[in-house]
Amino acid sequence: MMNTITTYQALIEEALKGKSYGSNPKELYAPIEYIMSLGGKRMRPVLVLLACDLFDGDIKKALHPSLAIELFHNFTLVHDDLMDKAPLRRNQHTVHEKWNSNIAILSGDAMMVRAYQELCLAETTLLPQLLEIFSDTAVKVCEGQQFDMNYEALPKVSIPQYVKMIELKTAVLLGGALKIGAVIGGAREEDARRLYDFGKHIGIAFQLQDDILDVYADAQKFGKQKGGDIIANKKTYLLLKAMEMAENNRYMKEELQQWIAAPEFDPKDKVEAVTNIYNFLNVKELARNEMKKHFDLAISCLKEIPVNEEKKKGLMVFAESLMVREV
Ligand code: IPE
Ligand code: IPE
Ligand code: MG
Ligand code: MG
Ligand code: MG
Repeated sequence: MMNTITTYQALIEEALKGKSYGSNPKELYAPIEYIMSLGGKRMRPVLVLLACDLFDGDIKKALHPSLAIELFHNFTLVHDDLMDKAPLRRNQHTVHEKWNSNIAILSGDAMMVRAYQELCLAETTLLPQLLEIFSDTAVKVCEGQQFDMNYEALPKVSIPQYVKMIELKTAVLLGGALKIGAVIGGAREEDARRLYDFGKHIGIAFQLQDDILDVYADAQKFGKQKGGDIIANKKTYLLLKAMEMAENNRYMKEELQQWIAAPEFDPKDKVEAVTNIYNFLNVKELARNEMKKHFDLAISCLKEIPVNEEKKKGLMVFAESLMVREV
């Protein structure tokens, strides 16, 4: 089954290699070539193809929409890195670092338009439906990203608010990718919805793992700046749980508050100090439990879809691989 996933990844990689986004002015297009060629796991386009195949659809018909999703995803990364002031992505300089902020904004915009053009290459009869799913998903990602930014500055964010935020910024795109694949595969509406919910829950688990990796990843493999979330006061599950648990420990509470409120600090010191608090309170374990909860919810959504269990293996393996991912 891993086989299917790697075959699909190769198919997507091949199709992306053959694409050109434009050439003049080069400041607009070079960053697109750059970010698209840096690799990445290509998870979301794989999901489009897996979903199409689940309903015995012709995956050739899902290829353009899968590339549209990957283009859109990469666009969100370019803007996300600018918003998060991230220096590294996929082990290389981020677009705004390598060029500048205006270039990151504009080449990102162009990528989003190219994504729509790619989607429009889908079968005409399906287009209204696909455009609706795609656009709805895209605007939800914006909502999630805005909540993410708002929460940086808020002293208190609840766990349900956090889960809703990551559902919007991250999980709906996995759900949307699956739903697009399902529609192309000819799924009944209720099954497309079940698959969307499967994607929503694996997406929530995926972002929880992303938050864990931001603190605990192997720096060699990670490819992003470690501790970026701590530096930016991102209201991750780890931080929210730590704040909650520190309520019963005055010393810990004060130290955490101090780091969050510090107007100036050495990033290394802050990351180390906050990581020590996380370790002491064992919040990583709690985040893993929350991940497991959403993994189980995802699997129960997948179970409800009335297709042969054998056919679900690809998505099952995919979901399991997310639980142990290191990058
Ligand atoms: C990163 O997504 C952005 C998040 C939603 C956490 P990925 O981890 O899928 O990034 P690539 O495409 O594989 O680099
Ligand atoms: C990413 O969340 C969400 C989107 C890109 C929409 P993060 O900000 O945690 O993603 P990384 O860690 O930079 O990849
Ligand atoms: Mg980021
Ligand atoms: Mg972000
Ligand atoms: Mg992250």
